[in-house]
Amino acid sequence: MTQQRKWTAIPGLLVLAIGAVVLSAYSGASSSQGSAPDQPIAFPHPKHAASVEKGGLGLNCLYCHNNANRSADVGMPAVNTCMGCHQSVMGTTAAGKAEIQKLWKYADVANMGKNARPVPWVRIHKVPEYVHFPHVRHVNAGVTCQTCHGQVQGMPKVYQAASLNMGWCVNCHVNGYDPKEGMKAAGYDTVTPARYAGGVPYGTAGSVAGIMTAQVSAISRDTEARVHSAATPSSERRRARYDCAACHY
Ligand code: HEC
Ligand code: HEC
Ligand code: HEC
Ligand code: HEC
Ligand code: HEC
Repeated sequence: MTQQRKWTAIPGLLVLAIGAVVLSAYSGASSSQGSAPDQPIAFPHPKHAASVEKGGLGLNCLYCHNNANRSADVGMPAVNTCMGCHQSVMGTTAAGKAEIQKLWKYADVANMGKNARPVPWVRIHKVPEYVHFPHVRHVNAGVTCQTCHGQVQGMPKVYQAASLNMGWCVNCHVNGYDPKEGMKAAGYDTVTPARYAGGVPYGTAGSVAGIMTAQVSAISRDTEARVHSAATPSSERRRARYDCAACHY
């Protein structure tokens, strides 16, 4: 670098530094790694989203977070999504029954749902307002949920597994994303390339004994159909834009 270019770089760096201070002062911080707030209902992901072999129902993540492959925001399941099963599944332990009773209160079962209201889930993952993060672009490029959120299907209580800071985002955009690694992160290291090239299975389809069997496999079929029609990731390493405007308009 010549002496002159060194000097012209300094004002640029100053602008960046000032911009950083101003942005962080106005937008509030992002959520922090490891954060695991208490939720209004102690919802166990492992019971619902872990594979059948691991004692779960094997529900696809998209069954509940059903906007992840359609829009920028994922959103939380509606009370009715839960009540489709919990109208009849009451829980077996005293603690479990008490949690499901809370769900019934939100669904207002006593008044036939007249005053039903959404469960006020506490938001865990959050990037600052000035950051543009489109879920749909990642999910449809085949980036698995677990790559960014960790092993949610094994978390009795969800916590923020990744930092979500700028270095974390840019690192993957620059180096690229290997769908095989992503499948491994999601626990599908035995899935054949043909399978993940056609679409990403976000949960293992399965069944449990008794009343749930038909319901769960119908749900899995329905969700798989939606995922497969939307997601067409290739099996090649994926790189993404990393110019400032990609993430900051
Ligand atoms: C039966 C419905 C259901 C299924 C299936 C499900 N989730 Fe969830 N998820 C929820 C509910 C309810 C919450 C809010 C309560 C909590 O945090 O535990 C939640 C919260 C989360 C959060 C934290 C959201 C935040 O505020 O930042 C993440 C991340 C998440 N789920 C990922 C997943 C992944 C990945 C899968 C598949 C392995 C999955 N979920 C399957 C219902 C579901
Ligand atoms: C596909 C059916 C299905 C859906 C959808 C579903 N659940 Fe469940 N849920 C179950 C089953 C089955 C159990 C295990 C019950 C048991 O162990 O007795 C369970 C267990 C639970 C438990 C723990 C009860 C215990 O015994 O430990 C809670 C709390 C719960 N569900 C809340 C929810 C909420 C909140 C939603 C919506 C976000 C939801 N469930 C969606 C089927 C479902
Ligand atoms: C590339 C990384 C990445 C992938 C892949 C990813 N997420 Fe996220 N997720 C994030 C980030 C970052 C946020 C915070 C976004 C924000 O604040 O706008 C988030 C937020 C969430 C939230 C909370 C959103 C809300 O509206 O409360 C849920 C739920 C969630 N993700 C579930 C999922 C599920 C399910 C999948 C897979 C289908 C998935 N995510 C895939 C990075 C990712
Ligand atoms: C594990 C890898 C990975 C991580 C982590 C990741 N991304 Fe991405 N990102 C991708 C891939 C792959 C694409 C899709 C590129 C494509 O569609 O060809 C993408 C696309 C995008 C796009 C769309 C870019 C365009 O072409 O318009 C934006 C915006 C974006 N990511 C923002 C973020 C932000 C913000 C974060 C951090 C909070 C983040 N990403 C974290 C892999 C990642
Ligand atoms: C792939 C997405 C992505 C790209 C590309 C990107 N950023 Fe960021 N940037 C982020 C995220 C995410 C944050 C929030 C980090 C946090 O809250 O920890 C952020 C935060 C910032 C901040 C505020 C830092 C602070 O401490 O509050 C500044 C300033 C910034 N970025 C500037 C830039 C500049 C300049 C470029 C281009 C050289 C750039 N960004 C490219 C994702 C991105």
